[in-house]
Amino acid sequence: MIITSFDKLSKEDQELVRVAQKARENAYSPYSQHLVGSSLRSKSGKIFSGCNVEIITLQMSTHAERNAVMAMAAAGEREIETLVCYGPYSGVPCAECRQVIWEFCNNNPDVRIIGATTEGEIELMTMGEIYPFPYGPETKGIDPKKF
Ligand code: THU
Ligand code: ZN
Repeated sequence: MIITSFDKLSKEDQELVRVAQKARENAYSPYSQHLVGSSLRSKSGKIFSGCNVEIITLQMSTHAERNAVMAMAAAGEREIETLVCYGPYSGVPCAECRQVIWEFCNNNPDVRIIGATTEGEIELMTMGEIYPFPYGPETKGIDPKKF
């Protein structure tokens, strides 16, 4: 992981972080009060976003990154280029979200993950770093782009 700052990012990455920050404004997290936003740029260049949405039973709550990935898939896109997770203290996606993100990484460990914190820290990661021994569609010979 490389720790950097917003102003050192490319214009494209800055735009993506801003979209995640904006998505965080819609976070619905009355139970944890932990607001998270996420954005991603798909391979085709389109941007999708999501926020966490908590349900009172808690088990049914969804994470920001997962909602961004589902928005991308629901629009018919199947490949992530860069994903941002914007939250308090850390922008590192949880283990379950890493699994979900990997579904649409086209078996590419170089897919970029940008963590952005409300304290202003930027964390640059790759999927290979945070999910080094993946279990994904490639394991079963599945190419998500064909579905
Ligand atoms: N959360 C996310 O949306 N993404 C993360 O990367 C970490 C956690 C949400 C889940 C829950 O609504 C709240 O933050 C506290 O864990
Ligand atoms: Zn998660």
